[in-house]
Order: sequence, then C-alpha cells, then structure tokens
Amino acid sequence: MHLLELEDMKASYGGIQALKGINLKIDEGEIVTLIGSNGAGKSTTLKSISGQVKVSGEIHYNGKNIANLPPHITSKLGIAHVPEGRRIFPKLSVKENLLIGGFAISQKKTIEERMERVFQYFPRLKERLDQKGGTMSGGEQQMLAIGRALMSKPSLLMLDEPSMGLAPIIVEQIFEIISELNKGGMTILLVEQNAFQALQVADRGYVIQTGVIVLEGDGKELMDNEQVQEAYLA
Ligand SMILES: Nc1ncnc2c1ncn2[C@@H]1O[C@H](COP(=O)(O)OP(=O)(O)OP(=O)(O)O)[C@@H](O)[C@H]1O
Ligand SMILES: [Mg+2]
Repeated sequence: MHLLELEDMKASYGGIQALKGINLKIDEGEIVTLIGSNGAGKSTTLKSISGQVKVSGEIHYNGKNIANLPPHITSKLGIAHVPEGRRIFPKLSVKENLLIGGFAISQKKTIEERMERVFQYFPRLKERLDQKGGTMSGGEQQMLAIGRALMSKPSLLMLDEPSMGLAPIIVEQIFEIISELNKGGMTILLVEQNAFQALQVADRGYVIQTGVIVLEGDGKELMDNEQVQEAYLA
C-alpha cells in the first residue's frame, strides 16, 4: 500500500481545468518531487491533497479515500502543507507561529517536546522565539513555516517551492534540512521550480505540464532526461 496515491485527480477553477487527471504515488519514507513551470498545476495539486481545492477522482492516503476532506481533517490525519510564499503570521512571534502549528495538541508537555524537536532542525528559531515573524529574513521565515508544519508531527510533509526567492546558500541549507527530515523518517512531497536542487534530493520525481503528468522517473533518470534538461535545467 502506498502512503499517498492520486488517481485521475482533476480540479478546476470556475470553468478552467487546472488538473486534467493526475496519477501520482508516494511510498512511506520517500522524497518525491513534482516539478513544472509557472501555472503547470503544482500548487493546485498540493491544495487538492490538503483539501483547499475541490477535486474529482481519488486521493488515497493510508488506504482511505480522503478526496474533498477539509484541511483541518487532512491535517489531523497527518498531512502538513507548507504553502507557497510561506504564509507565516508576520505580526505574531516565532513562538506564537509555532503554537498555531500545534493548535490541535492539548497537552502542554507534548507541545514543548514538539517545539524542542523543531529547534533541533532549526536552532535559529529558538534564538528568535520572541521576534515577530515578519521581521525575519526570507530563509528564516521558510524555516518557521516548515517548523510550524512539523508541530503537528505529520506523516506526510508537503512543501510548495521552499526555495523560492532565497539566496543560493540559504537554498542549500533548506534542502539539507529537507534531506535530514527525510532521514529522520519523514515522507516528503516537494514541489519545485528549482528542478536541479529538487531532483538531487528526491528519490523520484514527476514532471507536470498544464495539468498533466508528462514524465516520471527516479531523480537521476529525470536529471539525465533531455526533455527535462531543455525545459527545466537550462
Ligand atoms: N484561485 C485561482 N483562480 C483561478 N485560476 C487559478 C487559481 N489558482 C490557480 N489558477 C490557475 O490554475 C493553473 C494552475 O495554477 P497553479 O497555481 O497550481 O500552478 P503552479 O504550477 O503552482 O504555478 P507557479 O509555479 O506559478 O506557482 C494556472 O493556469 C493558474 O492560472
Ligand atoms: Mg505554485
């Protein structure tokens, strides 16, 4: 059984079909990347899984069809979605942002343990606990957005363009952390326009073009693929 399996998943905005039948699967412990250019349907795919966009077709997660379940339920089931553009709360402190990620936890001790775990990956956040999210650098905000998602102790972490707008050295750091999280047992669905970085870290990848998966393969295979090189690695 796959951890996640999309079967002929379609989604539309008004009359415009953004996803035309996506088939994709992720096994436990994998990093799978979904790459594609502007407007290809990457974010819509993640939004469909987490329940922010209505879909037709099936989304199997842990053997259960979760298609069209609302975000607070998919989150409870263990799916965390770090949105494009990070969307942290700029006026709230780092600590408050993290607490929001742990909103469903009632035990104070569990919240503290989860927060300590987040600080193991992102020591910087511990140093900046009282700083307002919006005053931090782009890289720190991305770390906060991932940290917030980790507070729910997800089984599947979905990241939407975590490298966007960040300096190359910070991008390296973010990808290292993605790799570390995966080594710690986290299954990851990584959406990227930065195909080179994504394919380096991923076990497998899918290429999406105007709402259709046009290629799939393991990371190296895709990296060596001529079509991928021309379109995404130029
Ligand atoms: N809220 C919306 N209303 C109408 N159309 C939308 C909406 N969001 C996305 N779309 C359209 O759906 C298609 C897929 O968009 P999506 O945001 O999923 O692409 P993407 O691959 O994430 O692109 P990007 O790399 O720019 O983030 C595009 O044609 C886009 O214009
Ligand atoms: Mg997007």
